[in-house]
Amino acid sequence: TKIVYTAHDGGSTTIEAQPGDSVMQSATRNGVPGITGECGGVLSCATCHVFVDDGDLEKLPPMSDLEDEMLDGAAVDREHNSRLSCQIKASEELDTVRVSTPEYQE
Ligand code: FES
Repeated sequence: TKIVYTAHDGGSTTIEAQPGDSVMQSATRNGVPGITGECGGVLSCATCHVFVDDGDLEKLPPMSDLEDEMLDGAAVDREHNSRLSCQIKASEELDTVRVSTPEYQE
């Protein structure tokens, strides 16, 4: 999966992620700015909040109730296209996903 991250300042980074890697893991491993992922991906921090490109939103599996709840506590207010990036996984079926990162996570 090709993941394109656009930072709040407009800078963008593209990472080729392996199936199973989350959008959060690929970011933190590669030093992509704008994603913290403090809890390591277990849905207890909301510091991996991203805005998914509208064109890619429906390619993703729906969010769980817990993800939905956690998004209410994100540092930057959620929007219609908000997701927690530790819950978005690269896979053979997902060719590209574009996300924007919020100005701050904590
Ligand atoms: Fe903590 Fe995603 S990394 S909720």
